[in-house]
Amino acid sequence: MKNTINSTDQNELLLLSSSSANDFNNDFDGYKWVNFNGQKNLATLNLIKGNVVYNEKLILIDKEEYRLWDPFRSKLAAALIKGLRNLPIKNKTKVLYLGASTGTTVSHISDIIGNSGVIFAIESSIRVARELIENVASKRENIIPIIEDARKPLSYFSTYGEVDVVYCDIAQPDQTEIAINNCKIFLKDGGKILLVVKTRSIDVTQDPKTIILQEANKLENSGFNIEQIIYLDPYDKDHGLIHATYIAYQINS
Ligand SMILES: C[S@@+](CC[C@H](N)C(=O)[O-])C[C@H]1O[C@@H](n2cnc3c(N)ncnc32)[C@H](O)[C@@H]1O
Repeated sequence: MKNTINSTDQNELLLLSSSSANDFNNDFDGYKWVNFNGQKNLATLNLIKGNVVYNEKLILIDKEEYRLWDPFRSKLAAALIKGLRNLPIKNKTKVLYLGASTGTTVSHISDIIGNSGVIFAIESSIRVARELIENVASKRENIIPIIEDARKPLSYFSTYGEVDVVYCDIAQPDQTEIAINNCKIFLKDGGKILLVVKTRSIDVTQDPKTIILQEANKLENSGFNIEQIIYLDPYDKDHGLIHATYIAYQINS
């Protein structure tokens, strides 16, 4: 079908014909595949109409406003474009997000989960967290920003209950151990982890794919079943994303 849109200035609201959005098999679950400038792109239904977070483009599809989701700015978008199946984040999902940064990916997850979901957004840098709060969390009711070190999960342990998904992107050498410790406290039995592995933070001398498999082994040895491993190049060089399911009895029995 004919694509009817052109790239214009940043932030201009672009009109996308429904046929362009429907060129792809869209089982709508908070995000859509769209044909933008002749390329297959992702977009999320904007929870806060007219609001942009990182100068992403806004597009209108069938009178609904979507934000284009840039795979060069968000590793979750890169993983979906590289073939991540069965995204465990949907409407109403409760997410613990480690390494929220200024909220680029957090904002798209916020779109997907809607106001019946919640994201506990952990960020240890006060300067970065201030930007997260001012630009993103203060405008979106479903984001709870928490300025804490993910190495100390008990410091933000409170009455929130269990989460459905732990998303971890903290670029630390011990990122997998940090993620596992958080899962043991906060992730429900059968819940999912999405672990971003920045291999250069772990070992610059080893082959990146070997390191990603080694981190997946650590998850397996801690009660997780590996669902899928995605290499994020060319969007993020030497990065991988591991999707796994937490089976609590595998470590507790
Ligand atoms: C690669 S950035 C995350 C990018 C973000 N996930 C996104 O897609 O928009 C890593 C972030 O983790 C934060 N971080 C690093 N170590 C941390 C820790 N121990 N606890 C919490 N946040 C941490 C850093 O301050 C930084 O903002």
